Amino acid sequence: VSATVTERPLLHFTPPRAWMNDPNGLVYFDGEYHLFYQYYPDGLEWGPMHWGHAVSVNLIDWQHLEIALFPDENGMCFSGSAIVDYNDTSGLFNGESGLLLFYTTHRVTGEGCDDYEQDQCIAFSRDRGRSWEKYAGNPIIPVPGFKDFRDPKVVWHQASQHWIMALACGQTIRFYRSENLLDWALCSEFGEHQGSHTEGPWECPDLFELPVEDGSGSRWVLIVGVGAGEDSWGSFTQYFIGDFDGTHFHNENEPDKVLLMDQSRDFYAAQSWSDAPDNRRIAIAWINNWLYANNIPQSGWRGMMTVPREVRLVATAEGVRIGQRFVPELGEQPLSQATMLTCDALGEGEQLALTTAQESIKPVHGSISFAMKSGSCVDLCLSQTGQPDLSFRQTESGLIMSYQRTGQNGVDAFDRFFPCRFDLPITHSRGSVTLEWISDNGSLELLINDGIYSLTSLQLCQSTAVGHNAAKLIVARGEIEITGGQSSVFG
Ligand code: FRU
Repeated sequence: VSATVTERPLLHFTPPRAWMNDPNGLVYFDGEYHLFYQYYPDGLEWGPMHWGHAVSVNLIDWQHLEIALFPDENGMCFSGSAIVDYNDTSGLFNGESGLLLFYTTHRVTGEGCDDYEQDQCIAFSRDRGRSWEKYAGNPIIPVPGFKDFRDPKVVWHQASQHWIMALACGQTIRFYRSENLLDWALCSEFGEHQGSHTEGPWECPDLFELPVEDGSGSRWVLIVGVGAGEDSWGSFTQYFIGDFDGTHFHNENEPDKVLLMDQSRDFYAAQSWSDAPDNRRIAIAWINNWLYANNIPQSGWRGMMTVPREVRLVATAEGVRIGQRFVPELGEQPLSQATMLTCDALGEGEQLALTTAQESIKPVHGSISFAMKSGSCVDLCLSQTGQPDLSFRQTESGLIMSYQRTGQNGVDAFDRFFPCRFDLPITHSRGSVTLEWISDNGSLELLINDGIYSLTSLQLCQSTAVGHNAAKLIVARGEIEITGGQSSVFG
């Protein structure tokens, strides 16, 4: 395929050059949000993993810093997390506060693709993350005797006054605990017969407690990436809701219930910021899928992150669920155009412009809410490909959303798994739909009904086909009533 995508998105984080995958080591310290990431600076495909590094004061404008971790004779630096050691419990900071990274060392032991071993290590910084030293006593958790043993997520557990590490082990999550951040004891394993088990390994856990928005108390959330198996869906992100008592995670849903953090194809390795101010729980994910990540037709750079999102817990008729919302910091970015949608009824064949046409690709943040009469059907063009991306049908059995990425516009033809089409029943709705979306160069992020559903998709568009970001809604059948909305064009 000759078509390549070279333009970078404006609102989404991309690496300075070359290959990027998972977000790593998300931590807030001394006025800065740190974002590290799986990085191979010398190629456009996955390779020997480094930790790239950037900082931001507002979660949207990022400043690239020096690479934080380099592979060495012990192996590559795989995914992990970061914390602020405020009270110097590790003893690495001479009584001051400092930043600690937890990462997996991945060591290749032979020629075969199964010839590797993984252990857990730390690195520390005494200068606000500007320079990093690997701990001389690494590994802090040695190779266990099985292969897939990675992606440590470390959190403070207030009730038991311990540090907890969640670690992906094959297709389960192991929990360890520690008093000094250096010596770790295994306390439990969660995941057998729980949630989704495809062929791929479980990866990149996250663990946090959040209040439920209706005031009914709090829950613990365990997020788990499910790596690409041989089926056509590839990698995706599931989560569990329940309680973590300091040693064990208890799932409050049926064990076989699979909850997804995103219903589309390109939301992986989600992680949230440690130590964020005001108890905010802010998460970001890699907009990609291991099925085709190495083949995306891009030159110069490959890989982007979602716009950071506030994670909330919402009480629904089916139980407590994650709801997502783009961070309000987005609203502080310079705009070139803002439009309020007037409320109105729209009949069959009528359409509504959600943004006006732009000469060049500029990111759009929009929202719209509408009520649908039974039997009605609405098509929406939200991404910058200019093609219809979604439709909502109000049927007798409820509301159905269909999403499609057609493969018609040339750049989509690079991989047989990239074009896709699927239906999603929207059960948390009473005939009304609220949408919030961001379309930027290369992707569409869509949150449905208070962000209880999330659709994050790569949407590739040739630079020659720019200027299509005139989002619109078309009533294909029946009648709808628009109850509100607005759109902002950035830049
Ligand atoms: C997830 C993952 C992690 C691993 C990293 C390697 O995308 O496979 O499990 O640490 O990528 O780059």
